[in-house]
Amino acid sequence: MADKKATVTCPGETAVELDVLKGTLGQDVIDIRSLGSHGVFTFDPGFTSTASCESKITFIDGDEGILLHRGFPIDQLATHSSYLEVSYILLYGEKPTPQEFEEFKTTVTRHTMIHEQITRLFHGFRRDSHPMAVLCGVTGALAAFYHDSLDVNNPRHREIAAFRLLSKMPTVAAMCYKYSLGQPFVYPRNNLSYAGNFLHMMFSTPCEEYVVNPVLERAMDRILILHADHEQNASTSTVRTAGSSGANPFACIAAGIASLWGPAHGGANEACLKMLEEINRKEHIPEFLRRAKDKNDSFRLMGFGHRVYKNYDPRATVMRETCHEVLKELGMKDDLLEVAMELEHIALHDPYFIERKLYPNVDFYSGIILKAMGIPSSMFTVIFAMARTVGWIAHWNEMHDDGIKIARPRQLYTGYTRRDFTSNLDK
Ligand code: CMC
Repeated sequence: MADKKATVTCPGETAVELDVLKGTLGQDVIDIRSLGSHGVFTFDPGFTSTASCESKITFIDGDEGILLHRGFPIDQLATHSSYLEVSYILLYGEKPTPQEFEEFKTTVTRHTMIHEQITRLFHGFRRDSHPMAVLCGVTGALAAFYHDSLDVNNPRHREIAAFRLLSKMPTVAAMCYKYSLGQPFVYPRNNLSYAGNFLHMMFSTPCEEYVVNPVLERAMDRILILHADHEQNASTSTVRTAGSSGANPFACIAAGIASLWGPAHGGANEACLKMLEEINRKEHIPEFLRRAKDKNDSFRLMGFGHRVYKNYDPRATVMRETCHEVLKELGMKDDLLEVAMELEHIALHDPYFIERKLYPNVDFYSGIILKAMGIPSSMFTVIFAMARTVGWIAHWNEMHDDGIKIARPRQLYTGYTRRDFTSNLDK
């Protein structure tokens, strides 16, 4: 809706009037789509001031530390819902009725197995490959196995692909782990919950049954809820950009996984745990803080700061609680958690972090929980990807419903002007 106007005076032109669009929440947005025809582009590397799309899925108020999925606050969802219910809400926009939820759960549960031939695909990877590399490759390859649902213009095909991705991602993720250990793959068990089944596929072996601990199952479910979606972050924008060309859903999700892998994004949970291990003792914290503040040192405090949150990340608050529950259940006194708590305390009182509004983010605690569960750090981002898949699909679908327009940014060119070519090489 546009009820306000903004005026821009382009070089050599009279003023151009632009619509100011108003969302239901959040900042107004100046519609600059017509500017190109006035001979100028806008310049915004990293999209710090650019709304790349219109969306009804997730809202973040970074100053207030608010995160809403389809209007529902994340802390309420994390406390009173389940990952599958949140998935339904993200995908369909409304809460499911008991019957709708039962049908949804049954469909997701019935599609957890993957094509048997995919198991052989794994054997092309080295056992010591990073599981994110394997996940990315195998997810992209799913298009070669499920090509009966690749017509992106057909809403039913998109729905089938969404179910396949949501159902099979835990199976593929757990297979990445089993493959790295050299253990046989464990098939899904459809009588278990989404999170329980994932833990089963991760930890049981043909010679030993894994009994799912309900506290760990709930913690895993919460981790999945807290990572399910996060508006137009780097990986979601990547999925939208890849999808804007009409690319198939498996390729788009593989692109999202690739983007998520970076340490500034989903890779931060793995990097955060490595950092805590490196800090090792509380006495070493001041040295690491000094390095984080030093502009000549590339070191940053992993698990701190966020492009959007300039307040406590609401997901970190829930994650912190879950972290304590898990350690209590397992009777563990984790030295790393003590280092983490001290680091958090010192950083929150340090003027450098206060002035820049750098607070702990979701990745600060998730690594400690996953480590306590016995999950190696190389799998942390894989679990993030598994959880985020539903958010990626919701955005990809929304983009198709709204009518796709290929993403094609322009640039500020600062290279050579035209020059004639004569080869330096002897001919
Ligand atoms: N440690 C030390 N200094 C920091 C940190 C940090 N973690 N994060 C930001 N800063 C400083 C930065 O040096 C800059 O200082 P100055 O103004 O003096 O130049 C200022 O804070 C603003 O930083 P920025 O790089 O302009 O902020 P950004 O919005 O581009 O970056 C971020 C956001 C998340 C990439 C960054 O905070 C970071 O690298 N954090 C560590 C990695 C991390 O935990 N990432 C997970 C994000 S949450 C999960 C997810 O979205 O995937």
